[in-house]
Amino acid sequence: MSDRLDSIVDELARALSSARSGAEVEELRRAYLGRKGAIAAAIGEIGIATLSGDARAETGRRVQAARERAGTLVDERAVAVSQAVSGPSYDTTLPGSDRRLGTVHPVALAKKSIEDALRGMGFLVTDGPEVVSEYLNFDSLNIPSDHPARDMHDTFWLTNGLLLRTHTSSNQVPALKRHGAPLRAAFVGRCFRYEDIDATHENTFDQVEGIMVGRGITIANLIAVMKFMLEEAFEREITVRLRPGYFPFVEPGFELDIRCTICDGQGCKTCKTIGWIELLPCGMVHPSVLCEGGVDPEVFTGFAFGLGLTRLAMMKYGIDHVRVLNGGDMKVIAQFPVVP
Ligand code: DAH
Repeated sequence: MSDRLDSIVDELARALSSARSGAEVEELRRAYLGRKGAIAAAIGEIGIATLSGDARAETGRRVQAARERAGTLVDERAVAVSQAVSGPSYDTTLPGSDRRLGTVHPVALAKKSIEDALRGMGFLVTDGPEVVSEYLNFDSLNIPSDHPARDMHDTFWLTNGLLLRTHTSSNQVPALKRHGAPLRAAFVGRCFRYEDIDATHENTFDQVEGIMVGRGITIANLIAVMKFMLEEAFEREITVRLRPGYFPFVEPGFELDIRCTICDGQGCKTCKTIGWIELLPCGMVHPSVLCEGGVDPEVFTGFAFGLGLTRLAMMKYGIDHVRVLNGGDMKVIAQFPVVP
């Protein structure tokens, strides 16, 4: 008996697959599931009332299962046919699923603003390897192994003699060798120092190193490029000043300060009442570095700078602890724009 029901339902499935309209599907529903339909007729032939006990219960279950299967087939076909005619249907009044958009991290925003400004001034913006030789990170930059400046760079040494770059200045000599002079290039990337973490220091940080070499490049060019770059990044006018600073790969070397953007030079907590903030070390490329890069210091001069992106982002957005930047707290990050 159940074979008979199964074959009726199979027959219905075949008939449904060639039904092309809602009316055809409904016609099949009547023919198979209606009161005088094929399934009802088959059930009538069984004469359930004449069966007794277990046989009756078992037959009842099979009949029910066959009806359900047939009903499902018809319903599914009815939906398929209606979608084929009118496209998928959906309820536009249902609430949408919650898709929150990601936002851009403040350091990434700062990075993009600096990159855009430098590109706008014709700089090639790129990066080099994070794992470098001692030569590239130090010796090529006029920092031999006995030089006291090495103490400032607490270094992560690798077991193979290489190291994690402590600054993006490691790109200077390779870039000079590769492109020669004149050159305008910037290297943006992560640097690493074996340091204790405090409010303004992390062992991993982002830096932009820039170098511009050409005939007759002077400190005036350095100031103009730095000022433009910072004004683009802060989206406001910036006043800068230079103080002497020492870095073995530049001569003279400077610390570039900006007038505090929080208090406009009046003196506040951020600038420690000084009115100025030390932001950017820079200087005129040392002749020995030019020579190392195969560029004649008698013909060419240039400047270089190293800008910490973490510090820039903290200044720009008034953040007073690196942990706020690197803590991964969505409440902080979600305040920044979705598109840079
Ligand atoms: N590389 C230096 C550092 O990370 C920063 C720096 C100072 C870069 C002076 C320069 C420069 O290009 O001229 O401490």
